[in-house]
Amino acid sequence: MILVLDFGSQYNQLITRRIREFGVYSELHSHRLTIEEIKELNPKGIILSGGPHSVYGENSFRCDPGIFDLGIPVLGICYGMQLMTHHFGGVVERANEREYGKADINVKDKATLFDGTPKTQTVWMSHSDKIIEAPADFIIEATSSSTPVAAMSNPDKKFYGLQFHPEVRNTEFGNDILKSFVFQACECTGDWTMANFIDIEVDKIRDLVGDKKVLCALSGGVDSSVVAALIHKAIGDQLTCIFVDHGLLRKNEADTVMETFRDKFKMNIIKVDAQDRFLNKLKGVSDPEQKRKIIGNEFIYVFDDEATKLKEIDYLAQGTLYTDIVESGTETAQTIKSHHNVGGLPEDMQFQLIEPLSTLFKDEVRALGSELGVSDEIVWRQPFPGPGLGIRVLGEITPEKIEIVRESDAILRDEIKKAGLERDIWQYFTVLPDIRSVGVMGDARTYDYAIGIRAVTSIDGMTSDWARIPWDVLEKISTRIVNEVGHINRVLYDITSKPPATIEWE
Ligand code: XMP
Repeated sequence: MILVLDFGSQYNQLITRRIREFGVYSELHSHRLTIEEIKELNPKGIILSGGPHSVYGENSFRCDPGIFDLGIPVLGICYGMQLMTHHFGGVVERANEREYGKADINVKDKATLFDGTPKTQTVWMSHSDKIIEAPADFIIEATSSSTPVAAMSNPDKKFYGLQFHPEVRNTEFGNDILKSFVFQACECTGDWTMANFIDIEVDKIRDLVGDKKVLCALSGGVDSSVVAALIHKAIGDQLTCIFVDHGLLRKNEADTVMETFRDKFKMNIIKVDAQDRFLNKLKGVSDPEQKRKIIGNEFIYVFDDEATKLKEIDYLAQGTLYTDIVESGTETAQTIKSHHNVGGLPEDMQFQLIEPLSTLFKDEVRALGSELGVSDEIVWRQPFPGPGLGIRVLGEITPEKIEIVRESDAILRDEIKKAGLERDIWQYFTVLPDIRSVGVMGDARTYDYAIGIRAVTSIDGMTSDWARIPWDVLEKISTRIVNEVGHINRVLYDITSKPPATIEWE
Protein backbone atom coordinates (compact mmCIF):
# COMPACT_ATOMS: atom_id res chain seq x y z
CA MET A 1 0.00 0.00 0.00
CA ILE A 2 1.19 3.48 -0.81
CA LEU A 3 0.11 6.09 1.73
CA VAL A 4 -0.56 9.61 0.46
CA LEU A 5 -0.55 12.31 3.12
CA ASP A 6 -2.95 15.14 2.37
CA PHE A 7 -1.62 18.69 2.58
CA GLY A 8 -4.61 20.27 0.88
CA SER A 9 -4.21 20.19 -2.89
CA GLN A 10 -7.61 19.85 -4.65
CA TYR A 11 -6.23 17.08 -6.82
CA ASN A 12 -4.39 14.99 -4.26
CA GLN A 13 -6.80 12.05 -4.49
CA LEU A 14 -5.73 11.89 -8.12
CA ILE A 15 -2.37 10.65 -6.86
CA THR A 16 -3.97 7.69 -5.09
CA ARG A 17 -6.14 7.05 -8.08
CA ARG A 18 -3.24 6.96 -10.53
CA ILE A 19 -1.45 4.50 -8.26
CA ARG A 20 -4.52 2.27 -8.04
CA GLU A 21 -4.62 2.37 -11.85
CA PHE A 22 -1.14 0.81 -11.78
CA GLY A 23 -2.58 -2.08 -9.74
CA VAL A 24 -1.18 -0.90 -6.42
CA TYR A 25 -3.48 -0.09 -3.51
CA SER A 26 -3.24 3.47 -2.24
CA GLU A 27 -5.09 5.56 0.32
CA LEU A 28 -5.17 9.27 1.09
CA HIS A 29 -4.99 10.23 4.76
CA SER A 30 -4.70 13.40 6.79
CA HIS A 31 -1.20 14.83 7.31
CA ARG A 32 -2.08 14.70 11.02
CA LEU A 33 -1.63 10.91 11.24
CA THR A 34 0.74 9.99 14.04
CA ILE A 35 3.73 7.78 13.38
CA GLU A 36 1.98 4.94 15.26
CA GLU A 37 -1.06 5.24 12.99
CA ILE A 38 1.20 5.26 9.95
CA LYS A 39 3.03 2.15 11.14
CA GLU A 40 -0.34 0.46 11.60
CA LEU A 41 -1.14 1.09 7.93
CA ASN A 42 2.18 -0.54 7.04
CA PRO A 43 2.81 1.36 3.77
CA LYS A 44 5.56 0.40 1.33
CA GLY A 45 6.07 4.07 0.52
CA ILE A 46 4.73 7.51 1.45
CA ILE A 47 3.83 10.43 -0.79
CA LEU A 48 3.53 13.93 0.64
CA SER A 49 0.96 15.79 -1.47
CA GLY A 50 0.93 19.37 -2.68
CA GLY A 51 -0.95 22.08 -0.81
CA PRO A 52 -1.64 25.81 -0.69
CA HIS A 53 0.65 26.69 2.24
CA SER A 54 4.18 28.01 2.58
CA VAL A 55 6.50 25.97 4.80
CA TYR A 56 7.34 29.25 6.55
CA GLY A 57 3.70 30.02 7.38
CA GLU A 58 2.82 29.94 11.08
CA ASN A 59 -0.08 27.56 10.64
CA SER A 60 1.33 25.60 7.75
CA PHE A 61 0.57 21.88 7.69
CA ARG A 62 3.28 19.54 8.97
CA CYS A 63 3.51 15.81 9.35
CA ASP A 64 5.16 13.54 11.87
CA PRO A 65 8.91 13.81 11.07
CA GLY A 66 9.22 10.17 12.16
CA ILE A 67 8.20 9.18 8.60
CA PHE A 68 11.80 9.84 7.53
CA ASP A 69 13.07 7.21 9.99
CA LEU A 70 10.79 4.39 8.87
CA GLY A 71 13.27 3.17 6.28
CA ILE A 72 10.72 3.37 3.46
CA PRO A 73 10.77 5.58 0.33
CA VAL A 74 9.18 9.03 0.56
CA LEU A 75 8.16 11.21 -2.39
CA GLY A 76 7.34 14.88 -1.81
CA ILE A 77 5.25 16.60 -4.47
CA CYS A 78 5.31 20.43 -4.63
CA TYR A 79 4.54 21.50 -1.04
CA GLY A 80 5.53 18.00 0.07
CA MET A 81 8.95 18.51 -1.54
CA GLN A 82 9.35 21.90 0.11
CA LEU A 83 8.49 20.38 3.48
CA MET A 84 11.10 17.70 2.93
CA THR A 85 13.68 20.31 1.92
CA HIS A 86 12.92 22.40 4.98
CA HIS A 87 13.17 19.35 7.22
CA PHE A 88 16.60 18.34 5.86
CA GLY A 89 18.06 21.84 5.97
CA GLY A 90 17.77 22.91 2.32
CA VAL A 91 16.63 26.39 1.31
CA VAL A 92 13.07 27.18 0.23
CA GLU A 93 12.61 30.67 -1.16
CA ARG A 94 9.43 32.49 -0.27
CA ALA A 95 7.67 33.89 -3.31
CA ASN A 96 4.62 36.04 -3.76
CA GLU A 97 3.99 35.09 -7.34
CA ARG A 98 2.81 31.73 -8.57
CA GLU A 99 4.32 29.73 -11.36
CA TYR A 100 1.26 28.15 -12.85
CA GLY A 101 0.91 26.04 -15.97
CA LYS A 102 3.12 24.11 -18.34
CA ALA A 103 6.90 24.33 -18.06
CA ASP A 104 9.80 22.49 -19.63
CA ILE A 105 12.31 20.76 -17.39
CA ASN A 106 15.78 19.45 -18.16
CA VAL A 107 16.51 16.07 -16.69
CA LYS A 108 20.04 15.26 -15.48
CA ASP A 109 21.86 12.06 -16.34
CA LYS A 110 21.26 9.29 -13.80
CA ALA A 111 18.03 10.89 -12.57
CA THR A 112 16.45 7.82 -11.01
CA LEU A 113 12.76 8.70 -11.12
CA PHE A 114 13.00 9.76 -14.76
CA ASP A 115 14.32 6.44 -16.07
CA GLY A 116 13.34 5.91 -19.69
CA THR A 117 11.87 9.41 -20.18
CA PRO A 118 13.32 12.18 -22.43
CA LYS A 119 15.92 14.69 -21.26
CA THR A 120 13.55 17.58 -21.93
CA GLN A 121 9.92 17.18 -21.01
CA THR A 122 6.81 19.21 -20.22
CA VAL A 123 5.44 19.24 -16.69
CA TRP A 124 2.61 20.99 -14.87
CA MET A 125 3.75 23.52 -12.27
CA SER A 126 1.52 25.14 -9.67
CA HIS A 127 3.56 26.69 -6.88
CA SER A 128 4.68 29.98 -5.40
CA ASP A 129 7.58 29.07 -3.06
CA LYS A 130 10.48 27.24 -4.65
CA ILE A 131 13.63 25.41 -3.62
CA ILE A 132 16.85 27.25 -4.37
CA GLU A 133 19.18 24.87 -2.59
CA ALA A 134 18.61 21.15 -2.17
CA PRO A 135 19.51 19.69 1.26
CA ALA A 136 22.93 18.08 1.72
CA ASP A 137 22.87 14.41 0.60
CA PHE A 138 20.32 15.24 -2.09
CA ILE A 139 21.20 15.45 -5.77
CA ILE A 140 19.38 17.59 -8.28
CA GLU A 141 17.50 15.41 -10.78
CA ALA A 142 15.98 18.15 -12.94
CA THR A 143 15.92 21.92 -13.39
CA SER A 144 13.73 24.38 -15.26
CA SER A 145 14.40 27.95 -16.38
CA SER A 146 12.62 29.34 -13.33
CA THR A 147 13.32 26.58 -10.80
CA PRO A 148 16.88 25.48 -9.99
CA VAL A 149 15.59 22.36 -8.22
CA ALA A 150 12.63 21.00 -10.20
CA ALA A 151 13.33 17.48 -8.92
CA MET A 152 15.77 16.05 -6.38
CA SER A 153 16.60 12.79 -4.70
CA ASN A 154 18.58 11.10 -2.00
CA PRO A 155 18.98 7.70 -3.69
CA ASP A 156 20.50 5.99 -0.62
CA LYS A 157 17.54 6.81 1.57
CA LYS A 158 15.09 6.67 -1.35
CA PHE A 159 13.77 10.17 -0.67
CA TYR A 160 12.52 12.06 -3.73
CA GLY A 161 11.07 15.49 -4.42
CA LEU A 162 9.19 16.88 -7.43
CA GLN A 163 8.33 20.56 -7.71
CA PHE A 164 5.72 19.80 -10.38
CA HIS A 165 2.60 17.63 -10.31
CA PRO A 166 3.10 14.16 -11.86
CA GLU A 167 -0.54 13.26 -11.08
CA VAL A 168 -1.92 15.86 -13.50
CA ARG A 169 -2.37 14.73 -17.09
CA ASN A 170 -0.57 17.81 -18.42
CA THR A 171 2.67 16.41 -17.04
CA GLU A 172 3.73 14.46 -20.13
CA PHE A 173 5.54 11.63 -18.35
CA GLY A 174 3.81 11.93 -14.98
CA ASN A 175 2.67 8.32 -14.96
CA ASP A 176 6.16 7.04 -15.78
CA ILE A 177 7.65 9.09 -12.95
CA LEU A 178 5.05 7.87 -10.46
CA LYS A 179 5.56 4.31 -11.68
CA SER A 180 9.31 4.60 -11.06
CA PHE A 181 8.59 5.59 -7.49
CA VAL A 182 5.97 2.91 -6.91
CA PHE A 183 7.67 -0.03 -8.66
CA GLN A 184 11.39 0.73 -8.56
CA ALA A 185 11.75 2.63 -5.29
CA CYS A 186 8.92 1.05 -3.27
CA GLU A 187 9.15 -2.34 -5.01
CA CYS A 188 5.38 -2.77 -5.23
CA THR A 189 4.16 -5.69 -7.32
CA GLY A 190 1.08 -4.28 -9.06
CA ASP A 191 -1.26 -7.19 -8.46
CA TRP A 192 -4.02 -5.25 -6.70
CA THR A 193 -7.45 -5.36 -8.38
CA MET A 194 -11.03 -4.30 -7.66
CA ALA A 195 -11.60 -7.84 -6.42
CA ASN A 196 -9.01 -7.17 -3.68
CA PHE A 197 -10.81 -3.96 -2.85
CA ILE A 198 -14.05 -5.91 -2.42
CA ASP A 199 -12.35 -8.44 -0.12
CA ILE A 200 -10.78 -5.71 1.99
CA GLU A 201 -14.02 -3.71 2.26
CA VAL A 202 -16.18 -6.78 2.95
CA ASP A 203 -13.87 -7.72 5.84
CA LYS A 204 -13.88 -4.16 7.16
CA ILE A 205 -17.69 -3.98 7.01
CA ARG A 206 -18.11 -7.35 8.74
CA ASP A 207 -15.64 -6.38 11.49
CA LEU A 208 -17.32 -3.04 12.04
CA VAL A 209 -20.93 -4.16 11.93
CA GLY A 210 -20.72 -7.51 13.73
CA ASP A 211 -24.31 -8.66 14.23
CA LYS A 212 -25.76 -5.15 14.15
CA LYS A 213 -28.03 -3.76 11.46
CA VAL A 214 -27.37 -1.34 8.65
CA LEU A 215 -29.68 0.96 6.75
CA CYS A 216 -28.73 1.97 3.27
CA ALA A 217 -29.92 5.08 1.55
CA LEU A 218 -30.74 3.68 -1.86
CA SER A 219 -31.49 6.18 -4.59
CA GLY A 220 -31.14 3.81 -7.52
CA GLY A 221 -28.16 5.79 -8.79
CA VAL A 222 -24.82 4.12 -9.47
CA ASP A 223 -23.18 4.99 -6.15
CA SER A 224 -25.92 3.93 -3.76
CA SER A 225 -26.69 0.81 -5.81
CA VAL A 226 -23.06 -0.28 -5.72
CA VAL A 227 -22.77 0.46 -2.00
CA ALA A 228 -25.93 -1.57 -1.35
CA ALA A 229 -24.57 -4.48 -3.38
CA LEU A 230 -21.23 -4.33 -1.54
CA ILE A 231 -22.82 -4.23 1.91
CA HIS A 232 -25.35 -6.89 0.94
CA LYS A 233 -22.39 -9.09 -0.02
CA ALA A 234 -20.83 -8.47 3.38
CA ILE A 235 -23.83 -8.85 5.69
CA GLY A 236 -26.81 -10.08 3.63
CA ASP A 237 -30.14 -9.60 5.39
CA GLN A 238 -28.68 -7.44 8.14
CA LEU A 239 -29.00 -4.73 5.51
CA THR A 240 -32.25 -2.90 4.90
CA CYS A 241 -32.47 -0.39 2.08
CA ILE A 242 -34.64 2.66 2.24
CA PHE A 243 -35.67 4.44 -0.88
CA VAL A 244 -37.03 7.92 -0.30
CA ASP A 245 -39.28 9.41 -2.92
CA HIS A 246 -38.71 13.09 -2.11
CA GLY A 247 -40.77 14.27 -5.04
CA LEU A 248 -37.62 15.40 -6.83
CA LEU A 249 -37.04 12.24 -8.85
CA ARG A 250 -36.97 11.78 -12.60
CA LYS A 251 -39.95 10.47 -14.55
CA ASN A 252 -40.84 6.83 -13.64
CA GLU A 253 -37.74 6.60 -11.45
CA ALA A 254 -39.46 5.37 -8.30
CA ASP A 255 -41.09 2.45 -10.11
CA THR A 256 -37.88 1.43 -11.86
CA VAL A 257 -35.87 1.43 -8.64
CA MET A 258 -38.43 -0.68 -6.80
CA GLU A 259 -38.68 -3.18 -9.64
CA THR A 260 -34.91 -3.53 -9.86
CA PHE A 261 -33.99 -3.95 -6.22
CA ARG A 262 -37.07 -5.49 -4.67
CA ASP A 263 -38.09 -7.76 -7.51
CA LYS A 264 -34.81 -8.54 -9.22
CA PHE A 265 -32.14 -8.30 -6.49
CA LYS A 266 -34.49 -9.51 -3.72
CA MET A 267 -33.12 -7.03 -1.21
CA ASN A 268 -34.99 -5.77 1.85
CA ILE A 269 -36.24 -2.44 0.56
CA ILE A 270 -38.73 0.03 1.96
CA LYS A 271 -40.13 2.88 -0.12
CA VAL A 272 -41.03 6.05 1.75
CA ASP A 273 -43.34 8.58 0.13
CA ALA A 274 -42.09 11.87 1.50
CA GLN A 275 -42.96 14.32 -1.26
CA ASP A 276 -45.04 16.64 0.90
CA ARG A 277 -42.50 16.65 3.69
CA PHE A 278 -39.69 17.82 1.39
CA LEU A 279 -41.74 20.32 -0.59
CA ASN A 280 -43.09 21.94 2.57
CA LYS A 281 -39.61 22.39 3.98
CA LEU A 282 -38.39 23.87 0.69
CA LYS A 283 -41.26 26.32 0.32
CA GLY A 284 -39.98 29.88 -0.09
CA VAL A 285 -36.31 28.83 -0.11
CA SER A 286 -34.27 29.94 -3.12
CA ASP A 287 -30.63 29.88 -1.93
CA PRO A 288 -28.84 26.84 -3.46
CA GLU A 289 -26.77 25.98 -0.40
CA GLN A 290 -29.82 26.28 1.87
CA LYS A 291 -31.82 24.03 -0.46
CA ARG A 292 -29.04 21.42 -0.47
CA LYS A 293 -28.75 21.48 3.32
CA ILE A 294 -32.52 21.23 3.81
CA ILE A 295 -32.73 18.24 1.47
CA GLY A 296 -29.71 16.59 3.14
CA ASN A 297 -31.15 17.10 6.62
CA GLU A 298 -34.61 15.93 5.64
CA PHE A 299 -33.12 12.76 4.16
CA ILE A 300 -31.55 11.91 7.48
CA TYR A 301 -34.71 12.74 9.46
CA VAL A 302 -36.74 10.46 7.19
CA PHE A 303 -34.19 7.71 7.81
CA ASP A 304 -34.27 8.41 11.50
CA ASP A 305 -38.06 7.95 11.51
CA GLU A 306 -37.86 4.74 9.51
CA ALA A 307 -35.04 3.39 11.65
CA THR A 308 -37.05 4.06 14.79
CA LYS A 309 -39.83 1.97 13.29
CA LEU A 310 -37.37 -0.79 12.36
CA LYS A 311 -35.60 -0.71 15.74
CA GLU A 312 -31.98 -1.41 16.57
CA ILE A 313 -30.38 0.11 13.52
CA ASP A 314 -26.89 1.41 14.26
CA TYR A 315 -25.35 2.22 10.93
CA LEU A 316 -26.25 4.25 7.91
CA ALA A 317 -24.54 3.32 4.65
CA GLN A 318 -24.04 5.99 2.02
CA GLY A 319 -22.57 5.98 -1.47
CA THR A 320 -20.46 9.05 -0.82
CA LEU A 321 -17.65 9.38 -3.36
CA TYR A 322 -14.35 11.12 -3.06
CA THR A 323 -15.57 13.89 -5.38
CA ASP A 324 -18.48 14.66 -3.01
CA ILE A 325 -16.11 14.95 -0.09
CA VAL A 326 -13.49 17.12 -1.70
CA GLU A 327 -16.04 19.53 -3.18
CA SER A 328 -17.85 19.89 0.13
CA GLY A 329 -14.57 21.02 1.74
CA THR A 330 -12.29 18.90 3.90
CA GLU A 331 -10.01 20.05 6.68
CA THR A 332 -7.60 21.03 3.92
CA ALA A 333 -9.70 21.71 0.78
CA GLN A 334 -12.07 24.65 0.14
CA THR A 335 -15.86 24.25 -0.12
CA ILE A 336 -17.11 24.41 -3.72
CA LYS A 337 -20.65 23.21 -3.03
CA SER A 338 -22.16 21.14 -0.23
CA HIS A 339 -23.11 17.75 -1.57
CA HIS A 340 -26.31 16.66 0.16
CA ASN A 341 -24.70 13.60 1.66
CA VAL A 342 -21.73 15.45 3.15
CA GLY A 343 -22.55 19.03 4.18
CA GLY A 344 -26.19 18.26 4.91
CA LEU A 345 -25.74 15.87 7.79
CA PRO A 346 -27.36 17.18 10.97
CA GLU A 347 -25.26 17.20 14.12
CA ASP A 348 -27.82 15.25 16.17
CA MET A 349 -27.84 12.32 13.75
CA GLN A 350 -28.41 8.96 15.46
CA PHE A 351 -26.39 6.73 13.16
CA GLN A 352 -22.79 6.00 12.56
CA LEU A 353 -21.89 6.32 8.91
CA ILE A 354 -20.43 3.65 6.66
CA GLU A 355 -19.06 5.11 3.45
CA PRO A 356 -17.01 2.42 1.70
CA LEU A 357 -16.76 4.32 -1.60
CA SER A 358 -15.37 7.50 -0.10
CA THR A 359 -11.90 7.02 -1.58
CA LEU A 360 -13.14 6.20 -5.08
CA PHE A 361 -13.94 8.14 -8.22
CA LYS A 362 -17.04 7.46 -10.31
CA ASP A 363 -15.35 5.32 -12.94
CA GLU A 364 -13.78 3.21 -10.19
CA VAL A 365 -17.23 2.75 -8.66
CA ARG A 366 -18.51 1.53 -12.03
CA ALA A 367 -15.66 -1.00 -12.20
CA LEU A 368 -16.47 -2.08 -8.64
CA GLY A 369 -20.18 -2.45 -9.52
CA SER A 370 -19.39 -4.68 -12.50
CA GLU A 371 -17.07 -6.77 -10.36
CA LEU A 372 -19.91 -7.19 -7.85
CA GLY A 373 -22.23 -8.35 -10.61
CA VAL A 374 -24.47 -5.29 -10.69
CA SER A 375 -26.10 -5.08 -14.13
CA ASP A 376 -24.79 -2.75 -16.83
CA GLU A 377 -28.11 -0.97 -16.87
CA ILE A 378 -27.45 0.33 -13.36
CA VAL A 379 -23.68 0.56 -13.48
CA TRP A 380 -23.87 2.77 -16.56
CA ARG A 381 -26.68 5.02 -15.36
CA GLN A 382 -25.68 8.63 -15.57
CA PRO A 383 -24.98 10.26 -12.20
CA PHE A 384 -28.01 11.82 -10.55
CA PRO A 385 -27.49 14.07 -7.54
CA GLY A 386 -29.19 13.26 -4.24
CA PRO A 387 -31.02 16.63 -4.14
CA GLY A 388 -32.45 15.58 -7.50
CA LEU A 389 -34.52 17.95 -9.56
CA GLY A 390 -34.50 20.28 -6.55
CA ILE A 391 -31.21 21.77 -7.69
CA ARG A 392 -32.27 21.82 -11.34
CA VAL A 393 -35.18 24.16 -10.66
CA LEU A 394 -33.12 27.26 -9.96
CA GLY A 395 -34.35 29.39 -7.09
CA GLU A 396 -37.63 28.57 -5.37
CA ILE A 397 -39.07 25.14 -6.07
CA THR A 398 -42.74 24.72 -6.99
CA PRO A 399 -44.58 21.55 -8.09
CA GLU A 400 -45.25 23.13 -11.53
CA LYS A 401 -41.57 23.89 -12.09
CA ILE A 402 -40.53 20.39 -11.04
CA GLU A 403 -42.98 18.99 -13.55
CA ILE A 404 -41.45 21.13 -16.32
CA VAL A 405 -37.95 19.86 -15.53
CA ARG A 406 -39.16 16.28 -15.16
CA GLU A 407 -40.96 16.20 -18.50
CA SER A 408 -38.22 17.99 -20.45
CA ASP A 409 -35.57 15.73 -18.87
CA ALA A 410 -37.53 12.64 -19.97
CA ILE A 411 -37.59 13.93 -23.56
CA LEU A 412 -33.89 14.71 -23.50
CA ARG A 413 -33.04 11.25 -22.16
CA ASP A 414 -35.28 9.58 -24.70
CA GLU A 415 -33.64 11.38 -27.63
CA ILE A 416 -30.10 10.79 -26.36
CA LYS A 417 -30.91 7.10 -26.06
CA LYS A 418 -32.41 7.00 -29.55
CA ALA A 419 -29.29 8.69 -30.92
CA GLY A 420 -27.12 6.02 -29.22
CA LEU A 421 -25.17 8.64 -27.27
CA GLU A 422 -25.85 7.34 -23.74
CA ARG A 423 -22.34 6.07 -23.00
CA ASP A 424 -20.55 8.92 -24.76
CA ILE A 425 -22.04 11.58 -22.54
CA TRP A 426 -21.24 11.54 -18.84
CA GLN A 427 -24.37 13.38 -17.80
CA TYR A 428 -27.26 15.12 -19.56
CA PHE A 429 -30.23 16.87 -18.03
CA THR A 430 -32.39 19.96 -18.23
CA VAL A 431 -32.43 22.92 -15.86
CA LEU A 432 -35.06 25.56 -15.36
CA PRO A 433 -33.56 28.99 -14.77
CA ASP A 434 -36.03 31.58 -13.62
CA ILE A 435 -36.08 33.32 -17.02
CA ARG A 436 -39.14 34.10 -19.12
CA SER A 437 -39.09 35.43 -22.62
CA VAL A 438 -41.43 36.37 -25.43
CA GLY A 439 -42.29 33.86 -28.13
CA VAL A 440 -44.96 33.20 -30.70
CA MET A 441 -46.98 29.99 -30.95
CA GLY A 442 -49.95 29.48 -33.26
CA ASP A 443 -50.03 33.19 -34.10
CA ALA A 444 -50.30 34.13 -30.46
CA ARG A 445 -47.78 35.84 -28.24
CA THR A 446 -46.34 33.73 -25.40
CA TYR A 447 -44.41 34.86 -22.36
CA ASP A 448 -42.99 31.62 -20.97
CA TYR A 449 -39.97 29.90 -19.50
CA ALA A 450 -36.67 29.12 -21.18
CA ILE A 451 -35.21 25.69 -20.38
CA GLY A 452 -31.50 24.88 -20.39
CA ILE A 453 -29.88 21.67 -21.58
CA ARG A 454 -26.68 20.61 -19.82
CA ALA A 455 -24.73 17.73 -21.33
CA VAL A 456 -21.11 17.08 -20.39
CA THR A 457 -18.33 14.63 -21.01
CA SER A 458 -16.09 13.78 -18.07
CA ILE A 459 -13.92 11.05 -16.64
CA ASP A 460 -14.50 11.56 -12.96
CA GLY A 461 -16.81 14.55 -12.51
CA MET A 462 -13.95 16.72 -11.21
CA THR A 463 -13.60 18.47 -14.55
CA SER A 464 -15.86 18.28 -17.59
CA ASP A 465 -16.34 19.57 -21.10
CA TRP A 466 -19.66 20.32 -22.80
CA ALA A 467 -20.78 17.50 -25.05
CA ARG A 468 -20.79 18.14 -28.80
CA ILE A 469 -24.27 16.72 -29.41
CA PRO A 470 -25.01 16.73 -33.16
CA TRP A 471 -27.17 19.67 -34.28
CA ASP A 472 -29.92 17.46 -35.65
CA VAL A 473 -30.27 15.66 -32.31
CA LEU A 474 -30.40 18.99 -30.51
CA GLU A 475 -32.99 20.19 -32.97
CA LYS A 476 -35.24 17.19 -32.27
CA ILE A 477 -34.87 17.68 -28.53
CA SER A 478 -35.67 21.38 -28.79
CA THR A 479 -38.72 20.84 -30.99
CA ARG A 480 -40.12 18.11 -28.79
CA ILE A 481 -39.61 20.05 -25.56
CA VAL A 482 -41.33 23.17 -26.88
CA ASN A 483 -44.20 21.15 -28.33
CA GLU A 484 -44.70 18.66 -25.52
CA VAL A 485 -43.88 20.55 -22.32
CA GLY A 486 -46.23 23.29 -21.17
CA HIS A 487 -44.88 26.78 -20.44
CA ILE A 488 -41.63 26.41 -22.38
CA ASN A 489 -41.07 28.56 -25.44
CA ARG A 490 -37.27 28.59 -25.68
CA VAL A 491 -34.45 26.02 -25.35
CA LEU A 492 -30.86 26.95 -24.45
CA TYR A 493 -27.69 24.84 -24.67
CA ASP A 494 -25.02 25.30 -21.99
CA ILE A 495 -21.56 25.39 -23.60
CA THR A 496 -19.43 25.92 -20.50
CA SER A 497 -16.82 23.52 -19.24
CA LYS A 498 -16.01 22.77 -15.58
CA PRO A 499 -14.15 24.74 -14.39
CA PRO A 500 -15.15 27.57 -14.52
CA ALA A 501 -18.76 26.31 -14.30
CA THR A 502 -19.82 23.22 -12.37
CA ILE A 503 -21.85 20.39 -13.89
CA GLU A 504 -25.06 21.15 -11.98
CA TRP A 505 -26.23 24.73 -12.01
CA GLU A 506 -26.75 24.95 -8.24
P1 XMP B 1 -20.82 19.49 -9.83
O1 XMP B 1 -22.12 20.19 -10.02
O2 XMP B 1 -20.23 19.73 -8.47
O3 XMP B 1 -21.14 17.95 -9.88
O4 XMP B 1 -19.85 19.77 -10.93
C1 XMP B 1 -20.20 16.93 -9.94
C2 XMP B 1 -20.99 15.63 -9.95
O5 XMP B 1 -21.62 15.43 -8.68
C3 XMP B 1 -23.03 15.37 -8.83
N1 XMP B 1 -23.59 16.09 -7.69
C4 XMP B 1 -24.08 15.48 -6.60
N2 XMP B 1 -24.20 14.19 -6.30
N3 XMP B 1 -25.17 14.78 -4.25
C5 XMP B 1 -24.77 13.84 -5.13
O6 XMP B 1 -24.96 12.65 -4.86
C6 XMP B 1 -25.07 16.09 -4.46
O7 XMP B 1 -25.45 16.91 -3.64
C7 XMP B 1 -24.50 16.47 -5.72
N4 XMP B 1 -24.25 17.68 -6.30
C8 XMP B 1 -23.68 17.41 -7.51
C9 XMP B 1 -23.32 16.04 -10.15
O8 XMP B 1 -24.58 15.60 -10.69
C10 XMP B 1 -22.12 15.62 -10.97
O9 XMP B 1 -22.25 14.31 -11.44
